[in-house]
Amino acid sequence: MNLKILVTAGDGIGPEVTNQAVAVLKEVAAMGGHSFTFDAKRIGGVAIVQDGTPLPADTLNAALASDAVLLGAVGGNEFNSLPPGKRPEAGLLQIRAALGGFANLRPAFAFKELAVNSPLRPEVIEGADILFVRELLGGLYFGQPREWNRAAGEAWNTMRYTRDEVARVARIAFQLASRRRNKVCSVDKANVLEVSQLWRATVTEIAMEFPTVALEHQYVDAMAMHLMNRPRDFDVVVTENLFGDILSDESGVITGSLGMLPSATIGGKVNLYEPVHGSAPDIAGKGLANPLGAILTAALILRHSAGLEAEAAAVESAVRKTLEQGFRTPDLARGDTTGLKVLSTTEMGAKVRETVKSQLSAVRS
Ligand code: NAD
Ligand code: IPM
Ligand code: MN
Repeated sequence: MNLKILVTAGDGIGPEVTNQAVAVLKEVAAMGGHSFTFDAKRIGGVAIVQDGTPLPADTLNAALASDAVLLGAVGGNEFNSLPPGKRPEAGLLQIRAALGGFANLRPAFAFKELAVNSPLRPEVIEGADILFVRELLGGLYFGQPREWNRAAGEAWNTMRYTRDEVARVARIAFQLASRRRNKVCSVDKANVLEVSQLWRATVTEIAMEFPTVALEHQYVDAMAMHLMNRPRDFDVVVTENLFGDILSDESGVITGSLGMLPSATIGGKVNLYEPVHGSAPDIAGKGLANPLGAILTAALILRHSAGLEAEAAAVESAVRKTLEQGFRTPDLARGDTTGLKVLSTTEMGAKVRETVKSQLSAVRS
């Protein structure tokens, strides 16, 4: 298996966590005789400083010529006063648009060992396993017109969707649900917004193509509550761009830390892989970042871009085993830490790699 991976590590903890994800991928490649090649390019704040733009042409061209892009995170406090189009985050939105992936898969799996780390009771989250399918190229993020008219003291953004944009992401959600627990929950605000009424009508229409999958609709405000009260009831959750952004971070409460959440964006020219979390300027450069979200993102590369399902599952199970053995990064060691071993970012990466190696050699012998 040959795979050309472009790493755009970005800012803050981005480089720290992607280094660990890349090291895991290298281990998998070495064990299986696969040829994975890695190239690194700038994006975000680091690119603004060095190249004068958050997405240099060189980075974009390399991304389009790769088989998969692994992104760390972008953003930093020093850029907070810039307008949206000039900020590090603009580089991320531009690369998403250029690569064309519209379905951002954000699995949230509650590892049993991390239940104590969540403010929710263990019996509420135990076994929770949700796949958010976030529409990534439409809605408020990309809708026109958008402007801050300072003279008028007025600003506006536009939440816009076409029927086809909703239909294509809904189809992905139903297809994925048919391989899981056959449930789709579509989240909108159809009691207030026309764009949500189009969303709901379209999702309902696409559901007819998937008679074995049960569809329910929830309003986004109620959904924010249901996710905390009864997360185990949900299988696939499909929603528009901004609602998906918000609800997926909220699911960090179910998993015990935002640092546990991976993502894969599919459906475009080149798949884009990024952990859900941001550049975490508050902990950057201190070795405190949890690399497991990025490592689980590496597993998604193996699954969705390399077709190496067994290896993807081995990485996921190595993460579980590492947690079972009591290893934690500081974000996973709140409260009573008796019996736990708190590790730095690089130490955690090394532990997972060790386990990946022994799992894959066990499979091969
Ligand atoms: P954040 O996700 O960076 O951090 C939120 C909180 O979670 C912080 O307390 C942080 O320390 C913690 N956290 C996040 N990831 C962690 C990890 N792997 N291990 C341990 N703790 C972790 O969100 P924010 O603080 O709202 O945003 C910071 C910057 O990141 C902003 O510029 C924002 O725009 C950007 N951002 C980028 C992306 C991305 O590039 N994909 C995603 C979200 C936010
Ligand atoms: C995410 C982030 C991004 C988003 C920002 C940084 C543009 O929050 O990936 O969840 O809102 O999509
Ligand atoms: Mn977000």
